[in-house]
Amino acid sequence: MGQAQNPETDKSVNPVKIFLLISLQILLSFILFTMYYRREAPASTKADSQDDVTVIAKEPIIILVWSFPFGQRFPLNQCPQQFDGSGCLYTADRTLYSSAHAVVLFHRDVYTSKKQLPQTPRPSNQRWVWFNNESPSHCPNLAIMNNLINLTMSYRVDSDIFAPYGWIEKHNTTMHFTIPTKTKLAAWAISNWNPNSRRVKYYGELKNYLQIDMYGYGRRNLPRNRQSEILSTYKFYFAFENSIHVDYITEKLWDNALYSGCVPVVMGPPRENYERFIPRDSFIHVDDFASPQELASYLLSLDKDEEKYKQYFNWRSEYYVPPQDNPWTVSYCRVCKALKEAPPYRTIASIEKWFKD
Ligand SMILES: *[C@@H]1O[C@H](CO)[C@@H](O)[C@H](O)[C@H]1NC(C)=O
Ligand SMILES: *[C@@H]1O[C@H](CO)[C@@H](O)[C@H](O)[C@H]1NC(C)=O
Repeated sequence: MGQAQNPETDKSVNPVKIFLLISLQILLSFILFTMYYRREAPASTKADSQDDVTVIAKEPIIILVWSFPFGQRFPLNQCPQQFDGSGCLYTADRTLYSSAHAVVLFHRDVYTSKKQLPQTPRPSNQRWVWFNNESPSHCPNLAIMNNLINLTMSYRVDSDIFAPYGWIEKHNTTMHFTIPTKTKLAAWAISNWNPNSRRVKYYGELKNYLQIDMYGYGRRNLPRNRQSEILSTYKFYFAFENSIHVDYITEKLWDNALYSGCVPVVMGPPRENYERFIPRDSFIHVDDFASPQELASYLLSLDKDEEKYKQYFNWRSEYYVPPQDNPWTVSYCRVCKALKEAPPYRTIASIEKWFKD
């Protein structure tokens, strides 16, 4: 009521005042926007190094595969879903070095000389990942890596990035496992025949008591595409590692024995170490026997006792061994997730001290 009669109010709608009000509003918005942006800026930088897919999608984490291990090319950027490759871009193009967030160095391909390592100065946010799948006995010149590496990747559980040769997975429900038809007793495949090694000496005794079919090293042929089919006909497979080290359990156990449906007879780290990865009733350990002869008589007794032999497959109603179709791809795929979770700063003074335990 008073408003209409107030001349002051009438005057307030003049164009100059409106212009001034709008100007003030624009100024205020600008100030508020600036404050808001300043407050948000550090947060988005932080999210960049974390698992914020929307931020990462704009600027991918570039992972440089410095070399293809053993020169074997494998598909990049085809990470199985469970390894979460989202937000990462894998490349083997060394010209992208300067923009790479991580460089994965495969030990065998770089250990001979520092000249094999990247030569251009390292960008401050770039991590070097040391990748190795050999045992310490076959891993020379570790000292070359002193004070260079930020993250380790290997078959050892205590690596920053644990990249095992294989693993078991749990079925969702109890499954029936059909034991492959067995027509033969025992097999062993070996490529590196060293007469002084423990495994070759052990075999030398064992074969006096047991029929063992040897594959590889100029003996029976074991084509890669028929390996599982051929080995599955054996009751036992000798998964003897070339050297004995913590967690050093290779495809001899995972692919040759377990995936093929054989009962593994293992030589490697102690039984407890195996039991970190596979059920205790899934394998036979040579250390459980006082001599090769005792092991042989146990295996022969199992050969005659179908029911007892079958016990070694009970665990398979709960677990299965996934096939390792692209082991290199899968190992490298683990890097992406690890980078998203990695500590902000870390240098490893000596890989040797840790790895050669
Ligand atoms: C088993 O469970 C996983 C994870 O919960 C699920 O992704 C998968 O589809 C299930 N598989 C079957 C055969 O039910
Ligand atoms: C990685 O290690 C190098 C070499 O010691 C170091 O200069 C760099 O700051 C480290 N980077 C990270 C992200 O930890």
